[in-house]
Amino acid sequence: MNKLKSKHLLGIKDLSIEEIELIFDTAKMFKEVLSRPIKKVPSLRHITIANIFFENSTRTKLSFELAEKRLSADIINFSSSLSSIIKGESLLDTINNILVMKVDMIVMRHPSAGAPHFISDKINASIINAGDGTHEHPTQALLDSFSIKEKLGSLKGKKIAIIGDILHSRVAISNIYSLQKLGAEVMLCGPKTLMPKFISEFGVMIENDIKKALKWCDVANVLRIQLERQEIKYFPSLREYSLYFGINKKLLDKINKDIIIMHPGPINRGIEISSDVADSKNSIILNQVENGVAIRMAVMYLLSLNNNQ
Ligand code: NCD
Repeated sequence: MNKLKSKHLLGIKDLSIEEIELIFDTAKMFKEVLSRPIKKVPSLRHITIANIFFENSTRTKLSFELAEKRLSADIINFSSSLSSIIKGESLLDTINNILVMKVDMIVMRHPSAGAPHFISDKINASIINAGDGTHEHPTQALLDSFSIKEKLGSLKGKKIAIIGDILHSRVAISNIYSLQKLGAEVMLCGPKTLMPKFISEFGVMIENDIKKALKWCDVANVLRIQLERQEIKYFPSLREYSLYFGINKKLLDKINKDIIIMHPGPINRGIEISSDVADSKNSIILNQVENGVAIRMAVMYLLSLNNNQ
């Protein structure tokens, strides 16, 4: 296989194992490019990409933008707070106005689940989901699985615990799909109130005791409490959350096992993870960020092969 089936990347759910492996092989090649003195290739010099962000972002936005520059694409950036959205323009009108300027690919982050899926039916350009509400965040899951594979050689039979605010996490959902497709076992751990109701239908284990989850896993992917998506209180206080679910060195020392520590960022130090864990030798948090550029280069390059506008 040397092509993806679709010209869009909306979620991991629709990707086959072969497609994920193709993205990883391509990302490996681009990672080598990124280690050269001249970190740039002309692959997308014929392509114009619009980065459309309706929600805050640091890593994802910068990483897409850098990946586009490394591939020599022309780019434009749009952020909703500075746009005509607040003057009443609809999402589809905004997108169509951008596309008529001969844009070939859209990278979109939106607070509503399904927004990129809705747009993908109505446009000719390729669309990449950079996070839609609490639904999916496919490039994050790809870079997460790629980073685990790089560290452990393979995901087959590996035990991955995703810990924290699962209910509001698109990273968790996309990770479940990706990890399971690649043969890993997945456990979710967090307070019962932050577990989605029907999540066991995904074939994952659920654990509410952090010590048991840590004893079980090879890799702990720690998530932030997404207070901005919480209209009601799901636990008494952040202090209490941290006491029961926060990961710190003392806890890891008790378990006495080498566990790889991951986090998609942004980290809230001292809440879900302590500094001595986030910055420890077992942490691959910055490797995840580094791999994000190569993964996004791979995704955009492969989608461009299917883009015959
Ligand atoms: C995540 C997101 O935006 O979904 N961050 C990211 O993309 N690296 C997770 C989060 O915001 O906590």
